[in-house]
Amino acid sequence: MDYFKSKYFTYGLENSLYCDNISVQEIIKKTGTPVYIYSKNFFEDRYKEFTQAFREVKHKVFYSVKANFNLNVIKTFYDLGSGIDVNSEGEFYRAYKAGVDPKKMLMTGVGKTSDEIRLAIEKDMMIKAESSEEIELINEIAAKMKKKARIAVRVNPNVNPQTHPYISTGLSQNKFGSDIEEASGIFKDYEKFNNISFTGIDMHIGSQITSVEPFIEAVDKLSEFYFKVKAYGVKIEHFDVGGGIGVAHNSEKSFSISEYAEALIPKLKKLDCEVFFEPGRFLTANGGILVTKVLYNKKNNFKKFIIVDAAMNDLLRPSIYSAYHHIQPVEISKTDKDIVADIVGPVCESGDFFAKDRTITETASGKYLAIMSSGAYGMVMSSNYNARRRPAEVMVDGDKFNIIRSRETFDHLLYDEKII
Ligand code: LLP
Repeated sequence: MDYFKSKYFTYGLENSLYCDNISVQEIIKKTGTPVYIYSKNFFEDRYKEFTQAFREVKHKVFYSVKANFNLNVIKTFYDLGSGIDVNSEGEFYRAYKAGVDPKKMLMTGVGKTSDEIRLAIEKDMMIKAESSEEIELINEIAAKMKKKARIAVRVNPNVNPQTHPYISTGLSQNKFGSDIEEASGIFKDYEKFNNISFTGIDMHIGSQITSVEPFIEAVDKLSEFYFKVKAYGVKIEHFDVGGGIGVAHNSEKSFSISEYAEALIPKLKKLDCEVFFEPGRFLTANGGILVTKVLYNKKNNFKKFIIVDAAMNDLLRPSIYSAYHHIQPVEISKTDKDIVADIVGPVCESGDFFAKDRTITETASGKYLAIMSSGAYGMVMSSNYNARRRPAEVMVDGDKFNIIRSRETFDHLLYDEKII
């Protein structure tokens, strides 16, 4: 079988998987499994790669914490100068607890509650509004608070991002943003909203997008819109391209960050305003793995199964998007032999799988497997289904590692639940 190509996850001398300078075996001796392991070096390098690629345009990066909201991950990006994109009061709370200045946060979300709007205004966060009704409400709340809300309007450009339908957001059939017509009306009437200053135009067309064309098409459409809005007299200070950059989970192709930058920079340079980006997956996905123990091998006359101690509640992506994650042994040897098997978890659903009909090295029970590319939309989407405790999280920083979140205890499962 092939091994995932990454300089952050490599096999050391004894043919054992390392995250940077730390052997995965050493970590799991301390934490047990399942456990998420992140490389801080990866996060830092990826962030620098991104900002370097766009050095020619005045820009700001807002790390989208929905990809991985561990306090230490948020802090890693914030320490590098990133702003933070939050989608709920809960994400705000996490970012706040990680030490982020609310003025460096964007409040996004298609269904913000009045409490979330109030919080954003109180903390002077930039709000990304998604409909006329929401803008009316923001204006009303800001008036009551005797404040002026800063808002960007998220526009849905009706562009097909060619990704999984569940993570496509830029088409008219998706619930996100205002269409160009509605957004034009909002900007035309901008003087009507006494307690709002309209400062930005925003888009986010989807996630795990593996070709630059949809971005080009959307930026073209919204650039035209940008100049129209300026002609109304609105002072637009920023143009937000959103997130969505796809990553390669194995040998499949995505575009490189320089291809993305080369395609967009000439277009963005024409806009005389600052550019915002909200990457999540690009900064985190390939910086994390989920390590799991093989519990059993079994076969029937149809299939082989490798049953592991992680499950869909720990990493949901394969179950709901049929997402591919490369899976490889933590320990390898020259005598390894490949088999074809389903890699499945202990949850009582047939949807609880990490891979189907996958060619993988034969592994005995008690051995460990690494599920690669699990740094984004892994832990954040975990649940307690089947009353399973959420896994621990570890961050490796060169030649040391820290447990940045312990495995949940049984008491966590019963949080504030009472027999009456
Ligand atoms: N900005 C907004 C407004 C978003 O909704 C998202 C992601 C991002 C930025 C970051 O997108 P990224 O760069 O990570 O693609 N659970 C799915 C992904 C859902 C993405 C939701 N929005 C998955 O596991 O693939």
